[in-house]
Amino acid sequence: MKKYCVVIVAVLAVVVTGLPENLPECPTSRNIRIPHPTNCTLYYACQNGEANIRICPEGLHFDNAIRMCNWPKGCISGTPRPNTQPTTLPDPRLCMGECPEFDSQWETIHLPYWNNCSLFCKCSNGKKFVFKCKKDLHFDQRLSVCNWPIPAKCPWRTKFIK
Ligand SMILES: *[C@@H]1O[C@H](CO)[C@@H](O)[C@H](O)[C@H]1NC(C)=O
Ligand SMILES: *[C@@H]1O[C@H](CO)[C@@H](O)[C@H](O)[C@H]1NC(C)=O
Repeated sequence: MKKYCVVIVAVLAVVVTGLPENLPECPTSRNIRIPHPTNCTLYYACQNGEANIRICPEGLHFDNAIRMCNWPKGCISGTPRPNTQPTTLPDPRLCMGECPEFDSQWETIHLPYWNNCSLFCKCSNGKKFVFKCKKDLHFDQRLSVCNWPIPAKCPWRTKFIK
């Protein structure tokens, strides 16, 4: 019984401090860096198959594209960030931000979508739904509409220019 209590306390401590319950799985063959799932400033350094949590220098975010700390590029702490490229199936968990619990009578809340300028999310009764902009338009976070790519200033746009 005593053993169980210790285990429960340990689990609670992890939840309270906001640290992840599980360390990510590290490949044993390579030393790589893996982004923290919800905190933009954190990452895991994998060394010899073991993950160690690290913090980026102040003002910087971990940039998974270059696997280094970099200037912030649209990551919002507290929202899930994928380890890998997003799958082609739109996933509401990749909507960046939270939906209010209740809809406003006057406006629909739109959220940007992680790492894909053509997608965006709409809030409905606290739930997120993914939508796609028409043709080549990009989601413009400032105006909350689909817009031409240049004025839309989607933070992930430059990645897709080959
Ligand atoms: C991210 O982690 C840093 C370092 O542990 C912490 O200071 C910061 O509050 C965290 N941010 C969020 C949004 O949890
Ligand atoms: C964005 O998402 C759409 C719909 O899932 C997909 O067809 C498109 O390839 C994605 N674009 C990028 C750049 O990932």
